[in-house]
Amino acid sequence: MIKIYPQFDDQDLFIRLFHKGVKAQWTVSDVEWEQPLWLNPDEAQALAHMLTPVYLGEQSAMIGASVVLPQMALAGETTSQIYLSSFLMDEARHFEVLTRLYRRLEADPLNVRQMPAMLRYHNRLRKGDRIDWVWGILISDIFAKNFYQIFFKAQPEALFGRLSGKILQDESRHQAFAETYLKRALPHLPPERVHALALMRDELLDIMDDMYRHLVDDAARLNIDGRAFLDNLRAEIEKKARRIGLDQNPPGDGDGLRRIFQGIGDGIKSRAEDITSKFSALVQSSRCDGCFVTLLCQSRLITAAQCR
Ligand SMILES: [Fe+2]
Ligand SMILES: [Fe+2]
Repeated sequence: MIKIYPQFDDQDLFIRLFHKGVKAQWTVSDVEWEQPLWLNPDEAQALAHMLTPVYLGEQSAMIGASVVLPQMALAGETTSQIYLSSFLMDEARHFEVLTRLYRRLEADPLNVRQMPAMLRYHNRLRKGDRIDWVWGILISDIFAKNFYQIFFKAQPEALFGRLSGKILQDESRHQAFAETYLKRALPHLPPERVHALALMRDELLDIMDDMYRHLVDDAARLNIDGRAFLDNLRAEIEKKARRIGLDQNPPGDGDGLRRIFQGIGDGIKSRAEDITSKFSALVQSSRCDGCFVTLLCQSRLITAAQCR
């Protein structure tokens, strides 16, 4: 018998994060735009430049969520889909609010020609499946969180400091989801996939270094130590990687390589179905094999490729 309606557990973390997200919604019209900037024109210009990768990240997260949501539907990850709907709304709001902030700063973001590394960064985020995307978004969210925190702590009464405080509340939900999702997924991935996630992190961090080499002067104008910012970011991402089960074995102890070679040896046997079924079994309470959209995704009218 086909189950049309999945069972939702109010205690499920993803459902709780969704409820929190829905209750915490706000819009651009709730912001008091007349608050002082506490920035001279030169500093406002520097902020406009430094904010550019974060600004692009907000839009990229919004678009990425719309691509990943059908993948979660196809995998029967219903509570993840529900949570992601609130995430999408959050990122849309951040994108809108920062667009409005640029008007208030009377300055433009950098364009891709001025900082080509931004394009490399966002192209890297688009590669892979939903697990890669959640990992890339977690890294981007940690980056954004650290950036917003600088202004929230330094200028809590200024316009951008206040805005940062509001956005940080949303970002804490995003991190909670991503960390839990990855903690559940990683034990079911073959070693070479886990290794690929570690490489992805290294690649994204290198591109971030590259981006901020272009922003050294702007950072100095805002009294931000760019090097310390990136070093702290790297340390926090390493810590997060260990918490989700990446880098359990420090490089050089031989275990990492053993796992990779073992994985390649085992690798060929119907890997994709294996990963999907094991991981999806883990989110059993949220699974809806028979929900309407999942059926649509599996029907002949909409192919799996279209759902990806
Ligand atoms: Fe955001
Ligand atoms: Fe976010």
